[in-house]
Amino acid sequence: MDTSSRKGIILAGGTGTRLHPSTIATSKQLMPVYDKPMIYYPLCVLMEAGIREILIITTPHDQAAFKTLLQDGSQWGLALTYAIQDAPRGIAEALIIAEEFLQGGPSVLVLGDNLFFGETFSKGLEAAMSRSDGASVFGYRVNDPQRYGVVEFDEGGKVLSIEEKPDTPKSNYAVTGLYFYDSHAPEYAKSIKPSDRQEVEITALNQIYLSKGALHVELLGGGTTWLDTGTHKSLFEAAQFVNVLQSRQGVRICCPEVLAYRKAWISRDELIVHARRLEKSGYGNYLMDVAGLL
Ligand code: G1P
Repeated sequence: MDTSSRKGIILAGGTGTRLHPSTIATSKQLMPVYDKPMIYYPLCVLMEAGIREILIITTPHDQAAFKTLLQDGSQWGLALTYAIQDAPRGIAEALIIAEEFLQGGPSVLVLGDNLFFGETFSKGLEAAMSRSDGASVFGYRVNDPQRYGVVEFDEGGKVLSIEEKPDTPKSNYAVTGLYFYDSHAPEYAKSIKPSDRQEVEITALNQIYLSKGALHVELLGGGTTWLDTGTHKSLFEAAQFVNVLQSRQGVRICCPEVLAYRKAWISRDELIVHARRLEKSGYGNYLMDVAGLL
C-alpha cells in the first residue's frame, strides 16, 4: 500500500475536567503550552511524518475556536477538515467518526494533548510510517504505568499483551497517544463494545490487532520525551520543559509555520507573512529569524 495516502486524525475532544476551572470556557487542547496552543504539538508530529490531510475531531461547542485558530490548513500547506465527537465516548470512536474521511486508507491518530520531542522519535515515526500492514504503537517507560495503556513485550519487541490502566501493570511501558493503523481500523473499531467507563477503548482496538498478530510496538528510548498535559501540574511542567529547551537552544519547537517552510510546503514569502502577523510576540520574532530577517 502507498503509505503517502496515510491520513492523520487529531482527537481534541473531551471535557478537560481535571483542568477545571481553566477548561470550562475553552478546550483543553487550545490551552497554551508555554508559547503556543497545545494542539500545535501533535499537529507538528503529523507534519513531521509528512502527513498533510488531517481531520480535527472536537466537541460541538469548541469547533468554532479550532477553526479560528487552524483554518483550512492551506496557510501551512495542509488540508484540514473538521468533525465532531458529541460526547466523550472513547478514543477508538475517532476511527469510526473518521471512516468517510479515510476513504478506506491507512491512518495515524494522535491525541490532542500528547507532546513528543526528540531525535530518536523521528526515527520511530519513519519506521511506523513505512509499515503498511497492521498497527504500530509507541511504548515509553514511565514510573506510573497504571495511569495508561500498558504494553508487555519480549526481547524481540514482540507484543505479548496490552491492557488499559491495569492495577498490576505487567511492564513499565505506557502506550503513548499516537497510533498508526492500516485500513481495517474503522471496521474493527465498530465491533468494540463500550468498557465499564462507557468508552470505546483504544486499547480494545489495539488488542484486536494483537489477536491477529498485527500489533507492532516501537520503543521510545531516552532520546525522546513524551509528556502528558492532563492535570495542572503536568501542564505546567510541560510548559517549563518547552521553555527550558527553547531558551537553552534558541530554537522553538513545534511551530507549524517553520515545519511547513522546512518541508517546502510554503515559500519564504509566505513564512514572512506569518511572521509579520505575529510580530509582536516572541513566536513571531522567531519566525522572522528563521526567514533570515533578524
Ligand atoms: C488514553 C488511553 C491510554 C493511553 C493514554 C495516552 O488514556 O486510554 O491507553 O496510554 O491515553 O495519553 P486517557 O487519557 O483516556 O486516560
